[in-house]
Amino acid sequence: MAAVVEMLGITKRFPGIVANDKVNLVVEQGEIHALLGENGAGKSTLMNILFGLYQPDEGIIRIKGQEVKVTDPNMANRLGIGMVHQHFMLVQPFTVTENIVLGSEVKRGPFLDMETAEKKVMELSEKYGLDVDPKAKIEDISVGMQQRVEILKTLYRGADILIFDEPTAVLTPQEIAELMQIMRNLVNEGKSIIFITHKLKEIMAISDRITVIRRGRYIGTVTKADTNPDQLANMMVGREVIFKVEKRPANPGSPVLEIKDIEGMGNRGVRALNKVNLEVHAGEIVGVAGVDGNGQTELIEVLTGLRKATSGTVKINGKDITNQTPRKIAESGVGHIPEDRHKRGLVLDYSVADNLVLNTYYKEPYSKSGILQSQAIAEHARNLIGLFDVRTPSETTLARSLSGGNQQKAIVAREVDRDPDVLIAAQPTRGLDVGAIEFIHKKLVEQRDKGKAVLLFSLELDEIMSLSDRIAVIYEGRIVGIVKPEEVTDHDLGLMMAGGTLEKEKGGTD
Ligand SMILES: Nc1ncnc2c1ncn2[C@@H]1O[C@H](COP(=O)(O)OP(=O)(O)OP(=O)(O)O)[C@@H](O)[C@H]1O
Ligand SMILES: [Mg+2]
Repeated sequence: MAAVVEMLGITKRFPGIVANDKVNLVVEQGEIHALLGENGAGKSTLMNILFGLYQPDEGIIRIKGQEVKVTDPNMANRLGIGMVHQHFMLVQPFTVTENIVLGSEVKRGPFLDMETAEKKVMELSEKYGLDVDPKAKIEDISVGMQQRVEILKTLYRGADILIFDEPTAVLTPQEIAELMQIMRNLVNEGKSIIFITHKLKEIMAISDRITVIRRGRYIGTVTKADTNPDQLANMMVGREVIFKVEKRPANPGSPVLEIKDIEGMGNRGVRALNKVNLEVHAGEIVGVAGVDGNGQTELIEVLTGLRKATSGTVKINGKDITNQTPRKIAESGVGHIPEDRHKRGLVLDYSVADNLVLNTYYKEPYSKSGILQSQAIAEHARNLIGLFDVRTPSETTLARSLSGGNQQKAIVAREVDRDPDVLIAAQPTRGLDVGAIEFIHKKLVEQRDKGKAVLLFSLELDEIMSLSDRIAVIYEGRIVGIVKPEEVTDHDLGLMMAGGTLEKEKGGTD
């Protein structure tokens, strides 16, 4: 086996932080090489260096044995390196093929030959089992499909070294299984893959070797066959990680959030919510389980004022808040950890400190007689950064330059700190490392034990099963059943999520 990528002694400094400190990464031809490390460990930075987006301060890079300077992404393309970013970059109103051809250097004359391009896209799509429609518009296809377009983009440019930066974080379980198959197809055709993920299950399922970095430093490279999840977690965070959520039985009080007969429309003008009924009591965590796209997003949006309900009511502590503004709802005691941290959670060009007072800046002590109190805002930020272990050089750093997982931790810190009566947590641990997940889970249970109501939306069944006191299953915009986690198996839940009922299995009807 020959090494296709050798990154040796790579160092990269940013103001106030050494993001990569003499890191080594050696990838062999035809392997899936996982890159593992905590949030902010320096994974994306290392990959941005390989892809020519950043220049290293020290270290050398060899591609297929040849020492190179990857000056920019075009240079990376010429070297056969392609990257699918953590947050992808497609032009929404354009078609798949237009997006793939866009920015590609292989143009013939002033006019793009779309027909030939479409044919080539189709061929590549079939060869690797991507199943992409070259004529579809980006805005009409799912996130999973958009990701495949990003993969096709790299293949179209002839890449044989593929970098996948947390590709599974945005996918549903079904899409993850399909992506794994695509990755296998790619290596079978001789491609080499660098795969970043926080999910140890995925690493154990698909990688050949794993390189671990921690706080910018190289920890080691192990072969999958010689390791296990416990060892990997330990290498990664430098201590034991408890994968199980520790919690006492719930002690629920009176209902805090009451959802009655809520109906609402989806983006395409079809009814997305069909008489949703659900109560969340003080001191309990209710998990909403469902296959992605069964009304979860619309329900979250109605509950937080981002979408109008067409009928029904939502009450908080007995007070009707249906269809009020997001700010009014927030002030009624609703906290919200949003699904999409870039669209709803953070203002990327504001400092971390300003982001941490995004929905409280106009109140004391952050504002007095209409004047912002920068001292109080900074102090509040430093406090939360410490408590929630947000890895940032300082509170004045822009949110944009935090690693993906640390952006997420900042949002969770802000919302939990407000101590809302109802906390709506949507995919709260998406993109987080195992240590951070353990911490966030603890925080959610803490809120519960303080007598708050927590409504958890998650596509991870493990998370739903281990955190929830009750589980509400959503299917085609309706709550089709409420169960206790100790009374069901994953299989039962899966069945209900697919529209079946447990009674049916036992011979009953719906
Ligand atoms: N452009 C930048 N300017 C300043 N600091 C940066 C920049 N890019 C990254 N950093 C810092 O470098 C460190 C490493 O970040 P990086 O994004 O590489 O982490 P990561 O391992 O990919 O984490 P995650 O799992 O959360 O995505 C972080 O402390 C981050 O804040
Ligand atoms: Mg990253």
